[in-house]
Amino acid sequence: MYSEKVIDHFSNPRNMGEIENPSGVGTVGNAKCGDIMRMYLDIDDDGIIQDVKFKTFGCGAAVATSSMATELVKGKSIYEALKVTNKAVAEALDGLPPIKVHCSLLAEEAIHAALWDYATKNNIQIEGLERPVSDIEEKIEDEDY
Ligand code: FES
Repeated sequence: MYSEKVIDHFSNPRNMGEIENPSGVGTVGNAKCGDIMRMYLDIDDDGIIQDVKFKTFGCGAAVATSSMATELVKGKSIYEALKVTNKAVAEALDGLPPIKVHCSLLAEEAIHAALWDYATKNNIQIEGLERPVSDIEEKIEDEDY
């Protein structure tokens, strides 16, 4: 039911932990399943994500998607990181069972929330970045996840 990559990232999560004084930090949850994900970003003056860490209090798929999402944004520019959608995360993990697709949405939204925090702190606008939601249920209701 789970791909080998999901099991690998769940068993050996990459970039788990936190960053002290991060450039941006974002937390999102899902009220329905009670899972919470927090992303920390360290962004340099050129807008490159030098480091990224996560903490996830949630299901195995949420841990795996957080881990994969950190791998996908590390070393990238903030605009490249914006393109890391939940679908990109799920694809990089060789797919998720349909009932677990919302877990990857948590990863996308946590990255956006951390970028939003970075933009707010630095008084800049990141084109294409929408105000993140704190509970992804709001998005799930809007779209067909
Ligand atoms: Fe909710 Fe996985 S079951 S994030």
